Amino acid sequence: MQLTAPVAPLSHWALSPDVVHLNHGSYGGCPRAVFDAAAAIRVRLEAAPMRFLVLEWQAELDRARRALAQLIHAPEDQLVFVPSATTGVATALASVSLAADDEIIATSHGYRAVKNQLVRLADARGARVVTIPIAVPYDPDAFVADVAAAITPRTRLAVLDHITSPTALCIPLERIIPLFAARGIPVLIDGAHAPGQLELDLRKLGATWYTGNNHKWLCAPKGTGFLVTTTPLRPLVTSHGASPEYGPPNRLHAELDWMGTYDPTPHLAVPTAIATIDQLGGGWSQTIARNHALAIEMRRRLIDALGGSARHVLAPEASLGSMAAVPIALPAGITPFALQTRLLTDGWEVPVIDFASGPLVRISAHLYNHAGQAEELAHKLRSLGVQLRDA
Ligand SMILES: Cc1ncc(COP(=O)(O)O)c(C=O)c1O
Repeated sequence: MQLTAPVAPLSHWALSPDVVHLNHGSYGGCPRAVFDAAAAIRVRLEAAPMRFLVLEWQAELDRARRALAQLIHAPEDQLVFVPSATTGVATALASVSLAADDEIIATSHGYRAVKNQLVRLADARGARVVTIPIAVPYDPDAFVADVAAAITPRTRLAVLDHITSPTALCIPLERIIPLFAARGIPVLIDGAHAPGQLELDLRKLGATWYTGNNHKWLCAPKGTGFLVTTTPLRPLVTSHGASPEYGPPNRLHAELDWMGTYDPTPHLAVPTAIATIDQLGGGWSQTIARNHALAIEMRRRLIDALGGSARHVLAPEASLGSMAAVPIALPAGITPFALQTRLLTDGWEVPVIDFASGPLVRISAHLYNHAGQAEELAHKLRSLGVQLRDA
């Protein structure tokens, strides 16, 4: 497996060679072929907006939906595009029935935007968010037991990540979702990071709602995510599709595909993104396996080069996808944000996370990355006075 050199060097990407790219996880990165395909779609749209949006858009969106559904093994009739995972979460939450004293289960590693939505929803309904702490070093068995113990007769909803954002932990959903399903409790999965980092089979997984991003590991342009729902949903914005005679026969598609005039280019470029990574990486399975192996190798090298040991390992290898978080200690008076800003200013895209138990640096491994970047990062961090911290 090729770890010491990029599988697809930066010349294949719209990414600048003047920057060290170690944060695919946050905002993705676009291969040139995808960037060009998106530009060509936008040219067609703006050349004849009415023809494009009246005659061509729905069929092209359906085609894009089919390509995505095939990759993530989701039913097309239950799949809609959304601009982002944040919107996917909001759309699903809008259909949750919740009353005073009901409980929502979430975790301490949840994404801030999602946590904020849960707090507002709970406040509005007089419900309560029950936050399960995920201890680090991460023990998935202990976490599954903690989830089981947190379910009460008042639990009405669980909102869980597939891969946590600050800590890059893969959550064993195949063991957790059945705990809720057995009690008829709906589960919303925030899979923002999962498509393209994990092999997904959403039919098998059995979540009530599953949302993910296409702009991250699938490498589509920004502004495309998806939501798969097993229950009827209303859009956040009521539009033409609320009229039964308007739009395609599938009422989920009729209501959620169109919420007003927008630029569908990012969604329509998803099939090209899927095909491009498939081709650059020698197949999706190979890409996912290689990026996982690279993330592990980069974590090992980063910890070694900073003089660390097993004490600095946050999670077992099997609980990682293509990202890894490493606990760090900062020089006195330097905040995580200040360090991240300094790195950005110096041409390093790598997130420094202000986590409850202490700062973390998170690395990402996609086809343009290679193992030696871990030692380069260690060297850079050391020059800024950064050390490792016990996990
Ligand atoms: C776990 C998680 N959920 C949700 C999001 C939000 O994604 P978006 O900004 O595309 O809505 C992110 C973004 O990084 C994330 O990591």
